[in-house]
Amino acid sequence: METIFSGIQPSGIPTIGNYIGAMQQFVALQDDYNCYYCIVDEHAITVPQDRLKLRQQTLELAALYLAVGLDPEKATIFIQSEVSAHAEAAWIVQCNTTIGELERMTQFKDKSQNNGRTGVSAALLTYPPLMVADIILYNANLVPVGEDQKQHLELTRDFVERFNNRYGTADQPILVKPEVKIPKHGARIMSLQEPTKKMSKSDTNAKGYISMLDEPAAIRKKIKSAVTDSSGKIEYDVENKPGISNLLTIFSAMTGESIATLADRYKDAGYGEFKTDLAEAVVAVLEPIQTRQKELLSSDELHEILDTGAEKANKVAKKTLQKMRNGVGLGRKGRMTL
Ligand code: TYM
Repeated sequence: METIFSGIQPSGIPTIGNYIGAMQQFVALQDDYNCYYCIVDEHAITVPQDRLKLRQQTLELAALYLAVGLDPEKATIFIQSEVSAHAEAAWIVQCNTTIGELERMTQFKDKSQNNGRTGVSAALLTYPPLMVADIILYNANLVPVGEDQKQHLELTRDFVERFNNRYGTADQPILVKPEVKIPKHGARIMSLQEPTKKMSKSDTNAKGYISMLDEPAAIRKKIKSAVTDSSGKIEYDVENKPGISNLLTIFSAMTGESIATLADRYKDAGYGEFKTDLAEAVVAVLEPIQTRQKELLSSDELHEILDTGAEKANKVAKKTLQKMRNGVGLGRKGRMTL
């Protein structure tokens, strides 16, 4: 069975972009792969966080993983900082990655442009190596993510090749080179207010995104005020009608119906009717998830699942870390204290 690794930052409440781009794939793949799904709290602290809020969001995200349908019998669900190999491996990755490679990452370019170089943590530059470490520690073959993470996956593949060339042998590579898995539709869910911009949980305008924990009334309101265009026609045309195309993509992801089927059904309808039906489709998916998440948060089950997850993850990660240490010559031969 092939292995999957992926993660989401607990840096806020996930949006339906995270749900469609990542979580839906996580659930769909859990039957056919050996899956590791991580709550990447070490990634979240690349920007300042309120410590109590971060802890709460970490648990809330873990509960959401389960509430959307991840089964701890099938997938290993754990918190990144409870497996110390991530931070250790990330150091080895950094030592084998150039500053030039990291400065080319578009996420770094965007974020450092907004805040200026002096205002951002060094980890904003060096966080992709932590992501590389996450993936390689589990020997992942496949990484399901949204479009915005594609460049980080390319970095991972380049790193694995370089590391294996430097420290392994041609017939015995040390690390596994992963493939990226991006959904055909929904890899980039756009802001409801600015449909040429990615929907993001850190958007300062809350009308731009639907959080997975938004109340039904808020969901209906946000969809009602979503930006469309003046043509009044429901068609899938990303270039000329980014707003409506984005809403069609969301509708399709929420119902499992194809975009073509939906576009055909609503071809003679107005935006108002279309938006009302879309809002109900989103509510129908999110409401039961919210109820289940609440139950999980007040149960002991969640902590037990995370304890077991961390234990399983530690075992696998330590083994790979040991191979990396051996590869680069860290520590004493035959005296492994991990
Ligand atoms: P993060 O927390 O920003 O996002 C989590 C996942 O959601 C996807 N996503 C979207 N997909 C479609 N439309 C959107 N608007 C949208 N917004 C977010 C992201 O592509 C991602 O798959 N660095 C990563 C987390 C991470 C990771 C990893 C992922 C850390 N280590 C190892 C995979 C493997 C991040 O910040 O994702």
